[in-house]
Amino acid sequence: MSIVAGILKSSLGKKYVMAGTGVLLFLFVVGHLVGNLQVFGPPELINKYAHFLQSKPLMVWGVRLGLLVIIGLHITTAVQLSAANKAARPVGYTGGEAYGSPWQSRYMLMSGLVILAFIIYHLAHFTVRLPGINGVGDFTQIKTVLHGETVPDVYAMMILGFQVWWVSAFYLVAQALLFVHLGHGLSSAFQSFGLRDHIWWPRIQFVTKAASIAIFVGYSLIPVSIYLRLVGSEYAANAKTALVESATPAKEAK
Ligand code: HEM
Repeated sequence: MSIVAGILKSSLGKKYVMAGTGVLLFLFVVGHLVGNLQVFGPPELINKYAHFLQSKPLMVWGVRLGLLVIIGLHITTAVQLSAANKAARPVGYTGGEAYGSPWQSRYMLMSGLVILAFIIYHLAHFTVRLPGINGVGDFTQIKTVLHGETVPDVYAMMILGFQVWWVSAFYLVAQALLFVHLGHGLSSAFQSFGLRDHIWWPRIQFVTKAASIAIFVGYSLIPVSIYLRLVGSEYAANAKTALVESATPAKEAK
């Protein structure tokens, strides 16, 4: 049996894998938030950023593949550990019982599964841009011109997307559950790595709580301020007119 298979078979190994993949996903969530907060700048800012990413397909597909493996490992080990906890005696965190946030710990599997459902919707919404699931129209038709090149207008897509109340509401519910998940998961990851002593533990708890609150506030600000028409509504109104006009000839041809 290889070392990797051996690690994945033991409860402690699974805990390390779940904690390690959780930390990597957390880093993605932070990076993604920083990218998305550019929506509060001029439209070209986030459009240039999105165009830069799209012009690096190797990097984008590398990250996508990596995320897929990491999410797969995180979910598999989480489900296995949860089943083992229920079936036999509880498998404790390294060094004892889980500290802090006991109510959050009870919702880890449920919040994780809702976040997974959110990610699937989110990919269909903004990455694949499936028409018919956004309450607006065909996002693939929303384009703008950057340095003489026609590119997807990610800014207009985000503004139009979050002006739909149920989309914004769903994103907010998902952010709340992400907060619950990170609130407990981050400190548990440190515990799993054995970083729990009386000097560092209160600091770790403070920093991980602050990080999960900052992530919740940062992500929630986007749908809330767009829904309240505090950001980009004039720009989006023009994009919507262009979208309706681009859809009209197709309807008339029927
Ligand atoms: C208000 C909250 C969020 C906004 C506005 C947002 C926005 C976006 C946009 C615009 C894209 C498409 C980028 C493109 O193809 O040009 C995207 C992709 C993605 N988002 Fe989010 N996102 C949000 C929250 C999240 C959260 C909380 C997660 C994870 C838990 C997440 C995970 C992803 C993933 C995995 C992708 C696919 C990246 C890829 O195409 O390779 N997003 N997001």
